[in-house]
Amino acid sequence: MNKRLEKYLVEHSTPEDPVLEELYRQTHIRFINPNMASGHLQGKLLEMVSLMIRPEYILEIGTFTGYSAICLAKGLRPGGKLITIEMNDELTDFARSYIRRAGAEEKIIQITGKAQKIIPDLSMMFDLVFIDGDKREYIDYYRLVIDKVKPGGFILADNVIWGEKVLGQDITDPQSKGIRDFNEMIIKETDINEVIIPLRDGLMLINKKE
Ligand SMILES: C[S@@+](CC[C@H](N)C(=O)[O-])C[C@H]1O[C@@H](n2cnc3c(N)ncnc32)[C@H](O)[C@@H]1O
Repeated sequence: MNKRLEKYLVEHSTPEDPVLEELYRQTHIRFINPNMASGHLQGKLLEMVSLMIRPEYILEIGTFTGYSAICLAKGLRPGGKLITIEMNDELTDFARSYIRRAGAEEKIIQITGKAQKIIPDLSMMFDLVFIDGDKREYIDYYRLVIDKVKPGGFILADNVIWGEKVLGQDITDPQSKGIRDFNEMIIKETDINEVIIPLRDGLMLINKKE
């Protein structure tokens, strides 16, 4: 997105929560690939979507430093839970400390491990799933979660524009291919409705038909 437009959007959106601002800053100081964190505008959108749905259960694949988990948890109904899965155990304590500072420790359950191993053992049905793990694995995640999404429930998948690489004719790198194959698979599914929101790197919003 061009910088002038982004500045305008930021100036005309609710200011970033100070805990999230600090989390984003520290993520940039302490971790590689810090721009994986959702950040202000996308975080606000995630919060709003969650507030519209008022989920009982949310599943997130890819916690990273906890930015999106904290945003999504803001919309949970009282007593609701967000389960977030992250395979990199070096991130657990950092994310936990910000989840605590955001006052969300009662709402967010962190699980460390590979999503593919963990999801089959989850017994609850989800109102909302946020797919934001390895781009090569999006189809696997979708296949694993779709039967655990309540009828009428939603899936959000991040980075589906992938820096516009999805438009390329001869994609060879596995991540771009993973995203493009996911988008092509989704458009053929008949039991869902979907739309791509062109914010940041593209968010696919999927609704499972009732
Ligand atoms: C883009 S980052 C997540 C960003 C975070 N959702 C946010 O918006 O702030 C992706 C994360 O997914 C994790 N990841 C990748 N593949 C995974 C898998 N199969 N299971 C669990 N976590 C995975 C990575 O270690 C990385 O921290």
